Amino acid sequence: MRFDNKVVVITGGGGGMGIEFCAAFAREGARVVLVDAFEQSVKKAAASLKQMGHDVSVVVLDVADEKAVSAAFDRIAAEHSGIDVLVGGAGIRPVGDVLEQSLADFEDCMRVNVTGIFVCSRNAARHMLKKGSGAIVNIASVNGVRAVTGMAAYCASKAAVISLTQTMAAEWAPHGIRVNAILPAQVETPMIAEQVGDERRRREERIPLGRYGKPAEIANAACFLASDDASFITGHPLALDGGYLAFGFRPAVTPG
Ligand SMILES: NC(=O)c1ccc[n+]([C@@H]2O[C@H](COP(=O)([O-])OP(=O)(O)OC[C@H]3O[C@@H](n4cnc5c(N)ncnc54)[C@H](O)[C@@H]3O)[C@@H](O)[C@H]2O)c1
Repeated sequence: MRFDNKVVVITGGGGGMGIEFCAAFAREGARVVLVDAFEQSVKKAAASLKQMGHDVSVVVLDVADEKAVSAAFDRIAAEHSGIDVLVGGAGIRPVGDVLEQSLADFEDCMRVNVTGIFVCSRNAARHMLKKGSGAIVNIASVNGVRAVTGMAAYCASKAAVISLTQTMAAEWAPHGIRVNAILPAQVETPMIAEQVGDERRRREERIPLGRYGKPAEIANAACFLASDDASFITGHPLALDGGYLAFGFRPAVTPG
């Protein structure tokens, strides 16, 4: 029970990974607050977690709306006597080649994925500073360090998340706040549901372990980084990628 009575705010809490994050922290005793822009999915997620007996509440907002985030985080901190952990999981993934992508799509991706992390992290940190402790785990992507065609906005936004994470880690380390990033390769969630058939097989073959990640595997790492087990880790981009960044392709010959 590493998060007994800890207040854990999870953005993107209604999403494929968000629900696993919430369940994993709640199982370890956390009081979880799910934050998401889409009321229907986040309320559905909260209802199923409550049925399992977990302490869960919901806030519906846009992570890039600083006024809304600041007011909500103040309310959460007042109700629960502070904020101990923030998981920045809200994100979008527009596709499109550089020459064809609309400026509106590019800016929207930056707004949600980068401004959202900036706004939520600093508003959580303001409450963590009062306690002199806290942990933030931002969900970036292997695409923040390895380019892929057709996803320039997403890749750029995730590179910015890694960089922001490192700067925040350096600025807040003297105040007892750790900030780390998780870089998943592809994970089995609705975000990648459009990848089927040959396209799916082609992508899986690029991962040495030969499969996509599971949301629970990402949630376990988020719990580790947010817990005292990771007390000397800050500013770290942790790849959860089945070996994708280490090798870049699946070895053709398997020993034995
Ligand atoms: N699924 C993958 O393969 C994969 C791989 C690497 C990184 N990621 C990253 O992991 C995170 C979670 O991904 P997922 O697969 O669970 O995605 P998802 O689409 O299932 O969930 C994302 C959630 O973010 C919410 N959201 C979107 N815009 C928002 C906004 N402006 N304000 C508040 N909430 C908003 C959505 O409503 C949704 O519930 C994302 O940041 C994503 O980029 C996913």
